[in-house]
Amino acid sequence: MEQTYKAAADIDVLPMYFPIPGFGSLPINAFVIKGEQPVLIDTGSPLDGDGADSTEHFMDSLRSVIDPADLKWIWITHADMDHVGSVQQILKEAPDAKVVTTFLTVGRMSVFSPLPMDRVYLLNPGQSLDIGDRTLTSVQPPSFDAADTAGLYDSKSKAFFSSDCFGALLPGQAEAAGDIAQADLEAGQLLWATIDSPWLHKVDSTTFAASLNAIRQMDPELILSSHLPAARGMNERLLGTLATAPNATPWVGPDQEALMQMMAQITGDESRAEVTV
Ligand SMILES: [Fe+2]
Ligand SMILES: [Fe+2]
Repeated sequence: MEQTYKAAADIDVLPMYFPIPGFGSLPINAFVIKGEQPVLIDTGSPLDGDGADSTEHFMDSLRSVIDPADLKWIWITHADMDHVGSVQQILKEAPDAKVVTTFLTVGRMSVFSPLPMDRVYLLNPGQSLDIGDRTLTSVQPPSFDAADTAGLYDSKSKAFFSSDCFGALLPGQAEAAGDIAQADLEAGQLLWATIDSPWLHKVDSTTFAASLNAIRQMDPELILSSHLPAARGMNERLLGTLATAPNATPWVGPDQEALMQMMAQITGDESRAEVTV
């Protein structure tokens, strides 16, 4: 875990960074909304960038911003592992908290990290939850890699928590997306969009433009992606880059030959660059 930071007076970011050799570094963020009824959004990855169990580090990071026992809600945006890593430990340390998520997320998690059904609160995109000093509205973001994805809009902070959408592979770490060089941010965001949402290349551009416009109309003051430093006042830049993703070059992963060359570079052993079957 990296140092936590504030994205707004009432929102803390709990960041991790995953180095992906050859592609950059991927932020993996969880968030705490410190309202009348505190909310944790996503629960980190089960492993850190070195492949070690990260639960204790995540819990330390969480405890540094709030007593987990004070949490009333744990919002799981989708069941991918980088979003649900420490959820079982948090459920133990936050006995009053309910998990806000979708039926599909509960179903996907049932095969690797089942949620206790009496702790679940189901909310579908378009539905809202009144939590005292604010309303949280579930929103399906314009891009996503899993069918169960539900981000959220917070009426008080006016932040849009966009889950995987607006993520970027980055050359380094930052606490504000605005601190990243524009070319690096655009390239990193486009690369992430084509990796995370390859279906964008098959989508009708008018339909996709409408989903981007829905975010434009929401007009959040702050976009908080799970995979990007906090982005304040950057809606048009982020939306503009994402709008180009359907026509961007589709991403193709390294094949066996490329893998062998990468291994040879790492080990300095040229014989490892030969593909054997
Ligand atoms: Fe995902
Ligand atoms: Fe993710």
